[in-house]
Amino acid sequence: MADLSLELCGVKLKNPIIAASGTFGFGREYDELYDIGQLGGISVKGLSLKPRTGNPPSRIAETPSGMLNSVGLQNPGVDSFVENDLPWLLGKNVAVIANITGTSIDEYVQMAERLAPTGVHMLEMNISCPNVHEGGVAFGVKPESVYQITKAVKAAARQPLIVKLTPNVSDITENALAAQEAGADAISMINTLTGIAVDVRRRKMILANNTGGLSGPAVRPVALRMVWQSAQKVHIPIIGMGGIETGEDAAAFMLCGAKAVMVGTANFTDPFACPRIIRELDAYCDRQNVRSAQELVGTLEENG
Ligand code: FUM
Repeated sequence: MADLSLELCGVKLKNPIIAASGTFGFGREYDELYDIGQLGGISVKGLSLKPRTGNPPSRIAETPSGMLNSVGLQNPGVDSFVENDLPWLLGKNVAVIANITGTSIDEYVQMAERLAPTGVHMLEMNISCPNVHEGGVAFGVKPESVYQITKAVKAAARQPLIVKLTPNVSDITENALAAQEAGADAISMINTLTGIAVDVRRRKMILANNTGGLSGPAVRPVALRMVWQSAQKVHIPIIGMGGIETGEDAAAFMLCGAKAVMVGTANFTDPFACPRIIRELDAYCDRQNVRSAQELVGTLEENG
């Protein structure tokens, strides 16, 4: 058995497999199937200051090797999370990452302040949601605004700050660098790629919001490329995600430079995906004669 443990921004994780925000709720439903304490971490559904009902249906569409979602950041609000879900989650012996959203820099700052005195282990600042009309990805496209919001939230945050980046830009490394320069403790990438689904019979858009975010194995090569490119530029930890379905997929992200990974869409097709991927990563390390999974990070051999 390999040692899968790691330290991420000063927080000890049992293994590098983290459930991705928006695919795992607050963990309760999955904990009915298996002990979620096995996971390295859980990034909870994006939280806002006030409850949000999200976008009207239809807000999900199946695509080749993936799916489009346009949920619109539905969540019960940060106060409900802190009162009703966080105490239960903290009893699970798993790193808890609060994914935070807002419609203005001030709202993101207030989110960091609200979570500062709680037991949340890390914050993941979502400036990459493509499904809302205010905020979300609006802060995550230009390096200057990535810098500005990261600087402001970092000043208010008590926990390590992970900045979640959008792939819907021409050069993600500019935003990775902007986040790092502004004091981010880590970056996570990639959020979804903007797409549409067309009902040709009715000649209508399928998603009520018209556009949605593409995730699943279809985006994996793009995500791997972006992690690999960013790892050449930044020294802060990268958490890689995008279509991870197996332990070898997780290893591929680590070889490209990710210290940890997030598993999202795979949870929908296989609710046991996360614990299975942990076991498969362990078996991969054994096959590769690697004693610690962290030895994999950034060791991808490039051609010419
Ligand atoms: O629409 C959503 O709730 C998705 C959020 C995201 O992709 O960050």
